[in-house]
Amino acid sequence: MAGNEWDAQTYDRRFGFVGRYGDDVLDLLDARPGERVLDLGCGTGRHAAELASRGAIVVGLDADTRMLDKAAADHPRVTFVQADATAFGLAQLGSGRPFDACFSNAALHWMTPQDAVLRNVRSVLRDGGRFVAEMGGAGNIAALDGALRAALSELGLDDVDIVSNYFPTVGVQSLALEDAGFRVELATWFRRPTALGPDTTAADWTRHFRSAAWGSVPVHLHERLAAEVDDRARTAGLLTADGWFADYCRLRFVAVAR
Ligand SMILES: C[S@@+](CC[C@H](N)C(=O)[O-])C[C@H]1O[C@@H](n2cnc3c(N)ncnc32)[C@H](O)[C@@H]1O
Repeated sequence: MAGNEWDAQTYDRRFGFVGRYGDDVLDLLDARPGERVLDLGCGTGRHAAELASRGAIVVGLDADTRMLDKAAADHPRVTFVQADATAFGLAQLGSGRPFDACFSNAALHWMTPQDAVLRNVRSVLRDGGRFVAEMGGAGNIAALDGALRAALSELGLDDVDIVSNYFPTVGVQSLALEDAGFRVELATWFRRPTALGPDTTAADWTRHFRSAAWGSVPVHLHERLAAEVDDRARTAGLLTADGWFADYCRLRFVAVAR
């Protein structure tokens, strides 16, 4: 898995917009009462809980125990399972029966190799089951990652790795879905410049979502790194009169298991 150290409390408190933006993907899924739905990369469980409240029978899957602990504490009546999306099947989901649908928000781009993930999703869906997801698309957060890379370089830390997510184009993801046994009914890419909120700068975003890189930097350099990231992000246009923005680009799709 492309690693990030997930801080579940900070994720919900400071970056809760990531989950909130996924809410209308739930409408696209349109789960019906009694349907069996998998929430892949469920994080702290916002959408799994909402699906359950709409009458679906939900399993939330995530690899990270801190995210799952918070999910289970906040939503004790929903079933959550710890598993890696690159290696799971019905057995890991505690189920002998295939699912009617898989939902995923802001998670697939963390999961590589993606072809294994898509094949696993197909293997747990019934024929005709829906796979409805939003993820980072081509060009996602290029300015934020660019600011972090340049700042690390300025500090002489070019060898520090930044997690490289899988941010596909519509074409690449559609082919990958077809290869995994899906028919793509909708695939769309769009920009979503996203306000970070009054207390969050570009450097704060990188500290949370690029935590492994920050963890490799000596602590005494953190303040300087933050200043360098913000300087470069400002130059890239991420600070506006309305505050800091993240240069999100999203990819949304609806695919049906063949
Ligand atoms: C940005 S969070 C999104 C959480 C949630 N879907 C939401 O909308 O708030 C990404 C989630 O994907 C999970 N994740 C990343 N790689 C994974 C993998 N290989 N298998 C399972 N979960 C994974 C992370 O642990 C994290 O909880």
